[in-house]
Amino acid sequence: MSPLDLDAVMRLANAESAAPRWGPAMYETFLAPGGHRKQIFVAEEDGRILGFIAGQIILDVCELDSIVVDSGARRRGVGRALLATLCGWARAGCVTRAQLEVRGGNNGAIGFYRSSGFVQDGQRPGYYRNPDEDAVLMSMALVSSQEK
Ligand SMILES: CC(C)(COP(=O)(O)OP(=O)(O)OC[C@H]1O[C@@H](n2cnc3c(N)ncnc32)[C@H](O)[C@@H]1OP(=O)(O)O)[C@@H](O)C(=O)NCCC(=O)NCCS
Repeated sequence: MSPLDLDAVMRLANAESAAPRWGPAMYETFLAPGGHRKQIFVAEEDGRILGFIAGQIILDVCELDSIVVDSGARRRGVGRALLATLCGWARAGCVTRAQLEVRGGNNGAIGFYRSSGFVQDGQRPGYYRNPDEDAVLMSMALVSSQEK
């Protein structure tokens, strides 16, 4: 993601109720020079941004903070490609696990994460508000291509 993509990324995120509501300052923390522990990747087609993924490395874990694909571009492998890019970046930083939390009622995202190799390894009752919902915790081992 470049700073020029900020408006398009925020438009995508703000159109999606399942995405975290971040202001520009939060996105800018992912763009900070030398910010090699936080990254946003975008998927682009003909100059149009179709989706983005935001993640950060905390010790040896990559936390997936947000992923959104434009509603008109779903089920075309864009989400899978974004996730693969984030995981590749994390592996290059010697990270061994990816983890995330998602609303228990977000069946689409949970289906996407499951099909990408994440497994549920916890639940936080009543973690989310408006509406009140549990958080489902999921994680996945990141195996380097040499280890496969
Ligand atoms: C979750 C999301 C990022 C998936 O993006 P996508 O580009 O549609 O995903 P892909 O096309 O790469 O899907 C890969 C596989 O994931 C699974 N999958 C994707 N969407 C799914 C859904 N709604 N229900 C069940 N499984 C799903 C399928 O196995 C799919 O493969 P298939 O299409 O061959 O069956 C997208 O639906 C989205 O932006 N949702 C709203 C935002 C959101 O909830 N983000 C997560 C919380 S921040």
